[in-house]
Amino acid sequence: MNSLPQVPDYITRLLPQVAGKPISAVKRELGLREVIKLASNENPLGPSERAIEAMEQAVRDAHRYPDAGQYDLRLALAEHHGLAREEVVLGNGSSELIDLLIRTYVDANSHVLTSEGSFIAYKMSTESLGREFRTVPLTAEHGYDLDAMLEAMTPQTRLVFIANPNNPTGTMVGRDELQRFIEKMDAKTGPTPPLLVLDEAYCEYIEPSLAPDSLAILKERPGTVLLRTFSKAYGLAGLRCGYALACSEIVGHLNNVRSPFNVGSIAQIAAIAALADTPYLEATIATNHKNRKALEKSLVARGFSVTPSHANFLLVDLKCDGKRIFERLLQHGVITRPVGVYGLPNCLRITVGTAAENARLLDAVDAIFHVRPQRLVVTDRNLWRQMARMARAQLRKLQPNRIGAQREDQRKVQGIAQ
Ligand SMILES: Cc1ncc(COP(=O)(O)O)c(C=O)c1O
Repeated sequence: MNSLPQVPDYITRLLPQVAGKPISAVKRELGLREVIKLASNENPLGPSERAIEAMEQAVRDAHRYPDAGQYDLRLALAEHHGLAREEVVLGNGSSELIDLLIRTYVDANSHVLTSEGSFIAYKMSTESLGREFRTVPLTAEHGYDLDAMLEAMTPQTRLVFIANPNNPTGTMVGRDELQRFIEKMDAKTGPTPPLLVLDEAYCEYIEPSLAPDSLAILKERPGTVLLRTFSKAYGLAGLRCGYALACSEIVGHLNNVRSPFNVGSIAQIAAIAALADTPYLEATIATNHKNRKALEKSLVARGFSVTPSHANFLLVDLKCDGKRIFERLLQHGVITRPVGVYGLPNCLRITVGTAAENARLLDAVDAIFHVRPQRLVVTDRNLWRQMARMARAQLRKLQPNRIGAQREDQRKVQGIAQ
């Protein structure tokens, strides 16, 4: 009998990848008809109409290979960001670019450094390439511990990932903090500083006055890469299109490593249309801010802790086993994301949905935690008196002959109103 070829140890050590459960799988497995997904930080508004129209046109040329040089979209992105086309490269989602960066820059004598509580793809890509992955824990506030990262940095640190805002915590490294980190990192590592990858998958959601000027950092510090994606605020996760902004030398290396047709023609064309659809992006951001605020408030009112978020999801501390609540929510047709792998076993990551989706989530949460509707609290004395009068009149009508009804009913009304 033929035996199978040997697999390197670093491959056999890999754990199965766990992506957000698709709606179809939950419907099939649990026999549910109505399922909502708040698990992968997608845009709940769907794609922009302009992107849909572009895709409909592009479908007619689907028998052709895509443009391997990615000319039009790279040009559109270069103009959008005030860079040259040679400073832009596309990936099959920014996930592919994470992989390509590690393949290109990290060898057997060097390692990747990031936070333990940051995007799991950094670990998966590094380990699937047999490279060394190092992390430091999150701060108590669920942010990047930049001092600990500086401490952990050695001459062998080749690549540093900072997701900003961070997934799964939604926290952000601010402008000054980032600047200080870069200065200290470069001072510590001397002539061979690590490649700094600022993964900005959620940057569109940051309040502009708080956002670091990463493009200025890129211009000043050539060993920097910015990763962006069309999967989140641009609403095109299913098409798999992300991009990196970097100096032309880095882009040249990534272009040599990537496969020529890594981004499909429909994705490239839809992304150009999505990039131009500013009203859609603005509506996305405004909807997210409004719904995120409301959802956070509702969760806090129920006694959960929510990490302040700069993205389109919330990290919610349920103060009990997050995986168990994830399973229970699934039974209610709500898909969320357990985050035990990030060292946050009591938390769930919940994407901000539409108002209706968020209401559905809260109903499911209330059913699971047996939250009773809150008692009506009336602080306005006049309003309270008016309500009590109306209730007494109603009761008199229903029970005109009941002895002592008035006083007793008054007490009841008082009980309800307090
Ligand atoms: C921080 C971060 N970076 C990158 C990605 C990858 O996105 P995509 O491959 O869809 O572009 C994600 C997806 O969830 C993310 O959260």
